[in-house]
Amino acid sequence: MIITQFTKDHSSMREVVDEEVEKLRPECKQLILSLPKERGWRTPHLYLYQNFWCQPKEIQAIISTQQHFRATDTDIILATIPKSGTTWLKALAFSIVHRKRFTLPEKHPLLTSNPHDLVPFLEYKLYANNQQPDLSGLPSPRIFATHVPFASLPESMKMSNCRIVYICRNPFDTFISSWHFLLNVRPQNLGPSSIEEGFDMFCKGVIGFGPFWDHMLGYWEESFESPHKVLFLKYEDMKEDITFHLKRLAKFLGFPFTLEEEREGVVEEISRLCSFETLKELEVNNTGKSIANFENKSLFRKGGVGDWVNHLTPLMGEQLSKVMEEKLGRSGLTFKVFCKDTK
Ligand code: A3P
Repeated sequence: MIITQFTKDHSSMREVVDEEVEKLRPECKQLILSLPKERGWRTPHLYLYQNFWCQPKEIQAIISTQQHFRATDTDIILATIPKSGTTWLKALAFSIVHRKRFTLPEKHPLLTSNPHDLVPFLEYKLYANNQQPDLSGLPSPRIFATHVPFASLPESMKMSNCRIVYICRNPFDTFISSWHFLLNVRPQNLGPSSIEEGFDMFCKGVIGFGPFWDHMLGYWEESFESPHKVLFLKYEDMKEDITFHLKRLAKFLGFPFTLEEEREGVVEEISRLCSFETLKELEVNNTGKSIANFENKSLFRKGGVGDWVNHLTPLMGEQLSKVMEEKLGRSGLTFKVFCKDTK
């Protein structure tokens, strides 16, 4: 990180030139330097690319994905805004699709691999660091994940018959989950950041891949427009009735459970294997890094609904409710934000 000068707007903070920007392809660097920017959470800045906030390295990878990824009709794309249940959805989709291959529970790949190793991110893994992978040889159905908003998905995803599953989480818990997660990975040279500051940025929409409302609404609206293409799930609903939503997910993906499987308890077996409680205890999820810079164990914190009440003041709660009313009120998209066993 190169420290250059003090800024006017954040006089207590030093303006830091993003070392990440310096390392990008020249055309990408030029583009990024022309974009609006705001102070970032774990990089000096976030940049507004195609109306969403993003880190420089991610923008380069997203551009590569947009230019080079070719979706096929059998692809499955898992889309989320960070900290909404991505890891859970990856585990569930992988287990559903591959359940015939891994009939012995004790041999299941999820017991020895983190879900992010089994279902790679396009922008964090496959197209990161200037890579242009040849994915054409992968067996179908290929399962990929992305945090990119619907409007910015590669054209081939929109034009093909691939299926897109979006999982959404109430913004209160998403913020708290992001806050804890980012505290762990915020570089020291960015200085400390308070929860109030992070919360203000979140309410202004300045968070990776945000504003959260645009991200949610893009997939929400598409799920009505093209229900065979986009399945919209909510984290809280899945927590409440995983069996129902697991069956719904399997049907949408084209791998419905047979009556026999249901009788044999396959649905319950998968939901147990992919549960927070099971995954959190596994050695593989307590060691190593499956996504660059992130400890696997930081992906599993509380895994519940309503933890935000332990961290946000009533005033902050009101403020976020107002933002949600203003931005989501007309859409019909609502959330459960409490749970009986919130601790
Ligand atoms: P908390 O920080 O509230 O505990 P993502 O996977 O998108 O990064 O989201 C992370 C959040 O999902 C974290 O929430 C994490 O604990 C929770 N989570 C991880 N695995 C889960 C699982 N199998 N079931 C339910 N929640 C899970």
